[in-house]
Amino acid sequence: MSKEIKNVEYGLEKIFEGAQDFLPLLGTDYVEFYVGNAKQSAHFYKTAFGFQSYAYAGLETGLKDRTSYVLKQDKIRLVLTTALTSDSPIGDHVKKHGDGVKVIALWVEDARKSWEETTKRGAKSFMEPTVEKDENGEVVRAGIYTYGETVHMFVERKNYKGEFLPGFKKWESNYNPSPVGFKFIDHMVGNVGWGEMNKWVKWYEDVMGFVNFLSFDDKQITTEYSALMSKVMSNGNGRIKFPINEPAKGKKKSQIEEYIDFYEGAGVQHLALATDDIIKTVAALRERGVEFLPPPPQAYYDDIPNRLGVHMSIMKEDISKLQELSILVDADEDGYLLQIFTKPVEDRPTLFYEIIQRMGATGFGAGNFKALFESIEREQAQRGTL
Ligand code: FE2
Repeated sequence: MSKEIKNVEYGLEKIFEGAQDFLPLLGTDYVEFYVGNAKQSAHFYKTAFGFQSYAYAGLETGLKDRTSYVLKQDKIRLVLTTALTSDSPIGDHVKKHGDGVKVIALWVEDARKSWEETTKRGAKSFMEPTVEKDENGEVVRAGIYTYGETVHMFVERKNYKGEFLPGFKKWESNYNPSPVGFKFIDHMVGNVGWGEMNKWVKWYEDVMGFVNFLSFDDKQITTEYSALMSKVMSNGNGRIKFPINEPAKGKKKSQIEEYIDFYEGAGVQHLALATDDIIKTVAALRERGVEFLPPPPQAYYDDIPNRLGVHMSIMKEDISKLQELSILVDADEDGYLLQIFTKPVEDRPTLFYEIIQRMGATGFGAGNFKALFESIEREQAQRGTL
């Protein structure tokens, strides 16, 4: 299905023939979280994940109802937003879902056209095309709903010279921990409810012109206790990848079901952040207190040469070093990849992070699913939610 793979600054670009690119996406623009206390969340993302102070909007910039902190690390921009009043839809979102992703913003050439084309194809509008201006020019934004209460915002910034968005000021801070090596967002995964995966796969095909280029059924992603199904959607140039998961029946509760129960609906399960030196990145994150899923057993590491096959000869990393940091390894026909998953970063067992380094492989670590899910289940058992 793919006719071309090339390295671009956003990582591995893959051109998909089946995709109808009526909605050209240039990349991820930002990800906005609605949180209970943005000031404290921002401190966590700086201290633990090495994000840099970037932009700010709040009472000091004329806003009355909300505060937003924008953090940056290379191409990744996170926005942390909190409500300042009790009658805010932001507060309602946090009350229902806990801290979580509200907006996956996509960088486009033409936000009006993106909104028109997608709403014409059945998307529910979140925000009609809106022009925002300041002394640096103008930005056009428009938004549509996707699964749950999650939103895709189209951001057109070709006539804007400022750093983030009109209305934001530069965030000057005297506390600036160093970055940990995150480069860009590799993919973002959505969890949807029972029997809803195919509905959302079709939605991404019909409304956004995406293609489904990888699928995993409950026979492939299963452990003794639980199972899930997953389909990976990509836009035409491969820069935006959204795997969609749904729970599958097992002897006990699937981690996807646990997510849906605690998030009280569909939502973003994890963001995968790319690095080109996962050993250095994970060592730094561990030192800063980031918690990862417990390591797979010794047998997993003993088996790596078998699983990598021909790619073993190009592998640069020392297996003992990977084991020491609990980093997972998987391979496909194009190469190998290294990945690791954090524990949820809030008290509800909902959103977590993946750290990924691709060494040619274009997959998502299917070979690690079993080891990974057994590790998640040990955590679920401790929470009494397995
Ligand atoms: Fe992932």
